[in-house]
Amino acid sequence: MITTTGLTKVYRSGGREVTALDGVDLHVREGEVYGVIGQSGAGKSTLIRCLNLLERPTSGTVTVAGQDLTALGGRGLRAGAALRAARSHIGMVFQHFNLLSSRTVQDNVELPLEILKVGRGDRARKALELLDLVGLADKATAYPAQLSGGQKQRVGIARALAGDPKVLLSDEATSALDPETTRSILQLLRDLNRQLGLTVVLITHEMDVVKTICDSAALMKGGRVVEQGTVAELLATPGSELARELFPVGGEPSAEDRTVVDVTFHGAAATRPVISELARTYNVDISILGAAMDTVGGKQVGRMRIELPGRFEDNVVPIGFLREQGLQVDVVGEDTVPATAAPLRKEGAQ
Ligand SMILES: Nc1ncnc2c1ncn2[C@@H]1O[C@H](COP(=O)(O)OP(=O)(O)OP(=O)(O)O)[C@@H](O)[C@H]1O
Ligand SMILES: [Mg+2]
Repeated sequence: MITTTGLTKVYRSGGREVTALDGVDLHVREGEVYGVIGQSGAGKSTLIRCLNLLERPTSGTVTVAGQDLTALGGRGLRAGAALRAARSHIGMVFQHFNLLSSRTVQDNVELPLEILKVGRGDRARKALELLDLVGLADKATAYPAQLSGGQKQRVGIARALAGDPKVLLSDEATSALDPETTRSILQLLRDLNRQLGLTVVLITHEMDVVKTICDSAALMKGGRVVEQGTVAELLATPGSELARELFPVGGEPSAEDRTVVDVTFHGAAATRPVISELARTYNVDISILGAAMDTVGGKQVGRMRIELPGRFEDNVVPIGFLREQGLQVDVVGEDTVPATAAPLRKEGAQ
């Protein structure tokens, strides 16, 4: 649904240059909720503003729903008609809501439709339908000042949906809200994603947000995307920083001559008693140093840090066994992947 290639943005101000985006290749699939994470200044807002060309990239391309937006003319508010039309299919939700205080809730939602020159009757019908969708049917005539933060954000979301977008972009939409309101707004975004088949790209600095609703995620550092993929892919990537952040499991080795291994379970492997099978098959004493279970992107995932007696070289076979069961196995403190030795099997074992 969204592809960027070599997306670069250099800001020039006062004779200084800031490279906010440095060759970003992003791939967002249709119908997914895609999270962008990164520290302050990593370039997240710049990236999302380039996706609808609110910010014109210095170089690179942005393709949304098969259309190359960077090829369409115009800059900023003077954007050409073609770009304006393409943009109306991309909704945007802001951290501080950006509602007009002098307009009622309904008139705020109608605003993008006025700009698209939709007639009065159709505008009103659409706005009321959207307010119903976001659970604010009874607030149409209220003013923003009369709403809670969560309600304001629901208006912001209804307004973003006015142009029937295929894509919804959200820049820290929940970071001004309390935890409970955050959960209800995330749930709303998830419901809209499912009901309308809407593709959602959201920026957040909270791992919990990613865990709760994202199918895929990207990690940004210094203007670059350093990791991206579905949550399952990230969890299956050795050494993935996002996976480690999603599943922090602590635990220190008890002695020098021990091998510490992080095992990630997802899919069918999560429901089989693999660790006890390993202990029985190879007659090893396994200590569990730490473990976490959670639902990520609607799927049950777990990670466990275990300790095996002996050094890494002594444990090539048990580690091979775990990998053969379809588990992601990261040996803590070892950069090299051990040669996958065929695990020794007991007679009659499957
Ligand atoms: N209009 C601008 N002019 C000059 N520099 C800018 C401009 N906008 C952003 N920058 C710089 O670009 C870099 C990336 O900024 P950006 O706002 O994209 O970061 P961010 O990841 O969204 O951070 P945060 O989490 O704090 O919102 C920063 O170094 C920032 O100072
Ligand atoms: Mg930002």
